[in-house]
Amino acid sequence: MIRSVPVDLGERAYEVLIGPGLLDTAGERLRPLVRRDRVAVVSDRTVWGLHGARLTAALGRAGLAVHPIVLPPGEQTKSFAGLESLCDELLALELDRGDLIVAFGGGVIGDLAGFAAAIYKRGADFVQIPTTLLAQVDSSVGGKTAIDTPRGKNLVGAFHQPRLVLADLDVLATLPDREMRAGYAEVLKYGLLGDPGFFAWLEASAGAVLARDPAALARAVERSVEMKAEIVIADEREAGRRALLNLGHTFAHALEAETGYGEALLHGEAVGLGSAMAFRFSATEGLCPGEDAGRAVAAVAAAGLPSRLADLDGRTFAADDLLRHMAQDKKAEGGRLTFILARRAGEAFVARDVDPARMRTFLLSEGAT
Ligand code: NAD
Ligand code: GLY
Repeated sequence: MIRSVPVDLGERAYEVLIGPGLLDTAGERLRPLVRRDRVAVVSDRTVWGLHGARLTAALGRAGLAVHPIVLPPGEQTKSFAGLESLCDELLALELDRGDLIVAFGGGVIGDLAGFAAAIYKRGADFVQIPTTLLAQVDSSVGGKTAIDTPRGKNLVGAFHQPRLVLADLDVLATLPDREMRAGYAEVLKYGLLGDPGFFAWLEASAGAVLARDPAALARAVERSVEMKAEIVIADEREAGRRALLNLGHTFAHALEAETGYGEALLHGEAVGLGSAMAFRFSATEGLCPGEDAGRAVAAVAAAGLPSRLADLDGRTFAADDLLRHMAQDKKAEGGRLTFILARRAGEAFVARDVDPARMRTFLLSEGAT
């Protein structure tokens, strides 16, 4: 069964389609969005090798020629150099603004191709075909696109909404278990930030979702996308409420900066650990019952994600280094630290005035030095 979640943003409205077998229907679904009989498909080597032939065949059946642009997998591709070479390839194809760019991959490809689409000839249409759980439940929806710079992650980018998102649950069959767990951290995030019922369901269903049970996976992706769509519709440019989607992220970005944005700590793993830390900090500050913090931490750990700094084997973190990254976070304003904190498991809020000294004490209690 194919489910549709509308992202109702007026003239920039689009649908997120979720279900099995969607890749095979990509041709008929993209056809109404193209003016010429061709599309540029941006992917990474791994995804293209596994699923490129299926997508090419599906687009071919609708009379669409595919120009693949296949990039190295990994966060390093989301860079100025990656953007330059992608734009150059799009220009070499003589793509014009009426042509469609298809992002076919995880969050790295979605963020990079989306940003290239945002600036290519001052703005081209693009479609997201996300192939990781993280990209299906989070990065492909909502129009945030960006690249990293040596000074930090996602620091150069644009809001640019896709015309359509196709989340084919079948492609997750080839996703490594570690990537599946990393994406699950973002699923958990939705329950923790705003839906106690969904969180309770996830407490009971984590195993089924991670094992890719079709019904459990469909429910997890659909509810996550519904929540993301609802928040994005209310606050597309993150003037307020959209910041809730950053639960765990201020901690996560600091930890990722210290571990080098790579295999040592995947983004989703950092979000899982960061969410656990946000709940423990909330409980320490008397904002959230200890029992709820315990449930949140247990849910992170039960998914096989790191829930304590000590879970990151052999790593030590200096509290002052983490605080320095936290102060550089995009959400930080005027020296005050911004965190998404919790009132209970299923209700988060934006705290814009977290005292750096109290955070330092907390980080030391967490095992930072
Ligand atoms: P990713 O794109 O690097 O993909 C992870 C790995 O899985 C890669 O090696 C990729 O080749 C492989 N892969 C992808 N699909 C596969 C499949 N179906 N089968 C087998 N292997 C597959 O990482 P990600 O976790 O998808 O995305 C992380 C990125 O997303 C980060 O850069 C993060 O900043 C960004 N992000 C953006 C937003 C947003 O709102 N724009 C939200 C969250 C995260
Ligand atoms: N992933 C955070 C956002 O889309 O706002």
